[in-house]
Amino acid sequence: MEHKRHRPLTGKVILITGASRGIGAAAAKRLARLGASLAINYNQRRDRALAVLDEIEKAGGEGMVFQADVTQKKQVDEMVGAVRDKFSAVDVLVNNAYFPFEVSPLHQISWDGLAEATRREISALYNCTQASVPGMIEKKKGKIVVISSRLAQQPLPRMGAYAAAKAALEAMANTMAIELGPLGITVNVVTPAFTLTDASSIMPDDFKERIRQSRPLRKHLYPEDVAGTIAFLASDAADMLTGSNVLVTGGSHFQI
Ligand SMILES: NC(=O)c1ccc[n+]([C@@H]2O[C@H](COP(=O)([O-])OP(=O)(O)OC[C@H]3O[C@@H](n4cnc5c(N)ncnc54)[C@H](OP(=O)(O)O)[C@@H]3O)[C@@H](O)[C@H]2O)c1
Repeated sequence: MEHKRHRPLTGKVILITGASRGIGAAAAKRLARLGASLAINYNQRRDRALAVLDEIEKAGGEGMVFQADVTQKKQVDEMVGAVRDKFSAVDVLVNNAYFPFEVSPLHQISWDGLAEATRREISALYNCTQASVPGMIEKKKGKIVVISSRLAQQPLPRMGAYAAAKAALEAMANTMAIELGPLGITVNVVTPAFTLTDASSIMPDDFKERIRQSRPLRKHLYPEDVAGTIAFLASDAADMLTGSNVLVTGGSHFQI
């Protein structure tokens, strides 16, 4: 009982896509500390995924790395099968992988650039849910946590491809919340504002500083800040939350 109190996710199998770096890596480490068995997905950076696993194991946690390009259905099916063989069916899916996109005004962007951003985001969620939901149905319980971006609702110029892709993802998540609720599966969205990771490192330092100063909390957002919200949504404490969208912004969603 004591064990369960300190490690409330003991016995849960959690698959995080794009967990070799950034928000996914921070969430993997946090969830493993809470007792979950972690399936650490990566695409190319096996070294970084193994470093996350190493940290988890040194802290007494359990995990395994799984390579798959989550935009490819066959690779995702094989990965989810391998997770089942190693642990059991997935209890919690965190749809987190980040896909670079064409940065351009929408009236000038290439059609391929615009379409590709949405294709990647929605194929990743499509592939991962199609592969994971049957196991959740068998267990009569499951959780899906979808990582969106504040840019879907609070646009910035030249980021339209990403904003449109994340808005589509949010619409899918909301629909799935209704469809999967009767099957015992919750679907929630986490919406981070600008967070310091590899993905955001292309932005100049003065931009980062301006963002920090304009936030009511006057702090940078780090991957660990988002990981705490993901951990809450993955836990039994969030059993009655579905169709929610949790803003992790330091208050910046009140700025215009
Ligand atoms: N950073 C921000 O400011 C910010 C703000 C709002 C929302 N978000 C969202 O937060 C999530 C995580 O972003 P991040 O900033 O933490 O990203 P990141 O640090 O750049 O890490 C990207 C992760 O995605 C993985 N990945 C990329 N393509 C993949 C593919 N085809 N299949 C499987 N994995 C793939 C990478 O794997 P490899 O290491 O193998 O390449 C890596 O683990 C994303 O959904 C992003 O849109 C980020």
